[in-house]
Amino acid sequence: MKGEGIPTDVQIALQETMALQPVRPAPRNGDAARNGTRGALGGLTHALGQLGLSGASAVLVAVAVVLAEATHILFVLLRGDEYFLWFAIDVAVVTVIVATPIVVYSQLIIRQLGASRRALKQVTEHLAIAVDAAEQANVAKSQFLASMSHELRTPLNAIIGFSDMIQAQQFGPIGNPRYLDYVKDISKSGHHLLGIINEILDLSKIEAGRASVQDEEEFNVAAVLEATTRMIRPLAERENVALEMSVESRGIRLLAVERMVCQILLNLLSNAVKFTPAGGRVNLSAVRTPEGGLLVAVADTGVGMAPHEIKVALTPFGQVNSAHSKKHAGTGLGLPLAKAMMEVHGGALRVVSAPGQGTTVSAYFPPERVSLRPDSGAAPDAREHPAAQSQPAIGSDLAQRVA
Ligand SMILES: Nc1ncnc2c1ncn2[C@@H]1O[C@H](COP(=O)(O)OP(=O)(O)OP(=O)(O)O)[C@@H](O)[C@H]1O
Ligand SMILES: [Mg+2]
Repeated sequence: MKGEGIPTDVQIALQETMALQPVRPAPRNGDAARNGTRGALGGLTHALGQLGLSGASAVLVAVAVVLAEATHILFVLLRGDEYFLWFAIDVAVVTVIVATPIVVYSQLIIRQLGASRRALKQVTEHLAIAVDAAEQANVAKSQFLASMSHELRTPLNAIIGFSDMIQAQQFGPIGNPRYLDYVKDISKSGHHLLGIINEILDLSKIEAGRASVQDEEEFNVAAVLEATTRMIRPLAERENVALEMSVESRGIRLLAVERMVCQILLNLLSNAVKFTPAGGRVNLSAVRTPEGGLLVAVADTGVGMAPHEIKVALTPFGQVNSAHSKKHAGTGLGLPLAKAMMEVHGGALRVVSAPGQGTTVSAYFPPERVSLRPDSGAAPDAREHPAAQSQPAIGSDLAQRVA
């Protein structure tokens, strides 16, 4: 059955994702008439504004006098009374005395409103210029980071390559065994640094708008989930955290950049294991949403985060739960990078968490990226299918860093 075996928090995340679908308000009757009235009033206000304060006030007072006289004549006719000119003059004088201060006051208010509107427009323009400048600065920063990371990668690859060669003692044995330990450390640190630089490079590329999904291809979701689970399992066993996986159907296929999807899963899974104390559980699941999208969720029973901590966790280099973070090495790039990569795919990443209650991170792929091969059969629990159909291409630095 659809959704069977899926943890409750994942189902909540699914419902929340559905609640995110935009709702377009239906056009209401009378909108056109209201717009027409607003247009006519706008035209009248504009025309009066052209006349200046005294001119517009005089016109409005004259209109009030004409209306008052017309009403007076109508009453005289209806009652069948005699028409007296002196009475008509009285009506006109009273109308002028009463209407003039009201009209002048209204005109002053309208002018003030006009001035406020102009000031608001100016502020909005300045704000737009400031936003533009900030965006340009952000792009420049990302471009700088991207080229810096690129420059750093070249010598780092030489360090890793040569230290690996020395470690393998390719050109003869090392005299002192302590040198062998040092060279192992050089290689390990080099791989670690390369992993961080790669993450910075990926994030900068995405922020600078230079990342694309042109390498996308269709692949089997269950196979990728199984492969990433297998890579995380040694870490989970070391931390004494149970790792489970459930996939709605083995036939689900995703059109995406496989390397990025693997990185997203590894980042989420490694976080879930890292921030779950021994004896806890981590569940990786994949379900199709009712409109045909795909929701991949990583749920854990770990330390969790408060709402303000989730915001920090999603910003580059942001780290929370200090007691736990100190125990585990990390740079604070995994979560923001996963979010950015999901957005490159037109998807979204959501974090639902509460302190001490665990965390569920859901990655949502839109329906146009998801398809189903009906002949593949359903497999609610992929542990029954240990043989992955394909091994995704994952960089060795990434694998080394998470394990
Ligand atoms: N599942 C989780 N449970 C609790 N806290 C989490 C979880 N996932 C992330 N966090 C918090 O969010 C922070 C940012 O996570 P992120 O993956 O970006 O960085 P990191 O794991 O510290 O380092 P790395 O760059 O190696 O991934 C973490 O340091 C942690 O405090
Ligand atoms: Mg992480």
